[in-house]
Amino acid sequence: MTELPNNLIVQAAIVLQKGGLVAFPTETVYGLGADACNEQAVARIYQAKGRPSTNPLICHVRDLAQAKTFGVFSPLAQKIAEKFWPGPLTLVVPRRSDCRIPLMVSAGLEFLALRVPAHDLARRLLAQSNLAIAAPSANPSGYLSPTTAQHVRDALGDKVDLILDGGECVYGLESTILKVEGDWLELLRPGGLTVEEIEAEIGLPVHLSPNVGNDHAPQLAPGRLTSHYAPNIRVRLNATNVDDNEALLAFGPHPVRGGKVTKNLSLTGDLSEAAFNLFSFLHQLDQDGVTAIAVMPIPDHGLGRAINDRLQRAAAARS
Ligand code: TXA
Ligand code: MG
Repeated sequence: MTELPNNLIVQAAIVLQKGGLVAFPTETVYGLGADACNEQAVARIYQAKGRPSTNPLICHVRDLAQAKTFGVFSPLAQKIAEKFWPGPLTLVVPRRSDCRIPLMVSAGLEFLALRVPAHDLARRLLAQSNLAIAAPSANPSGYLSPTTAQHVRDALGDKVDLILDGGECVYGLESTILKVEGDWLELLRPGGLTVEEIEAEIGLPVHLSPNVGNDHAPQLAPGRLTSHYAPNIRVRLNATNVDDNEALLAFGPHPVRGGKVTKNLSLTGDLSEAAFNLFSFLHQLDQDGVTAIAVMPIPDHGLGRAINDRLQRAAAARS
């Protein structure tokens, strides 16, 4: 991890306090942050990303105590937060009636997404600014998520007031989003924390959201749109061969032969290594002037579930 001097954090905190936009690293992907309680600042996030206002944002907070000033935590939500925060988990819980975060941040929904990130720079920024920071992934709406500061500079550079460079994100894949209603757990987005880990630790089943894949469900949010996380060129899944003009996104020790260029998500078939490499390799293959990215099959368990979720949306027909 890159060491950043404290004066940069102080500067970034001031930018946020004045209603500006700061891109910052989390352990999952880079976020595009603004003061969650400042409607105008939050509006700038939507503008910079070209994001529909119907898509709610995640609010990043220092700790569970701060989260509880905004959301209602059932005993189960509290237990999950204590176990997995800080970390790659977002909890969607009911808003408190006295919640200071404007409704527009959660796109008018009565539920609010809250997350305590583990990345040192994110934590220092939260502490220094003393704010809740609303932050989607720092990419133009619908495009690949950024896992390096350079990805942010390339895609949004002129729209951000300050970018904190913390090197490459260790997970490289967004947080898992879990809705907790009483003792009912619903997976809204697979991500860096696996369902298997949650179920093993909590001893309750995680239900798959009935809305997954339905673009018109009222509580739908961007990461669940059928086409999302997409590179500019076409993505072809479950490839067992590759054409001369295609790029190959391989997985495992036996990549298929051919293609213009190959990146292997993990030679040893390790799913966390593959998750870490996913967006970064898609960024690289997206720039090589090829006709399509052919992707070899990835096992659909553990982190493979989140990887396949992103790949399916990247491959989906664009609207
Ligand atoms: O890892 C991450 O989660 C990153 C880092 C920066 O924290 N953030 C991120 O934000 O991926 P974004 O905006 O790209 O994706 C946010 C997702 C949406 O797709 C949506 O599913 C969910 O958060 N979401 C936010 N608020 C919600 C709400 N009130 N109800 C349901 N889903 C919500
Ligand atoms: Mg995103």
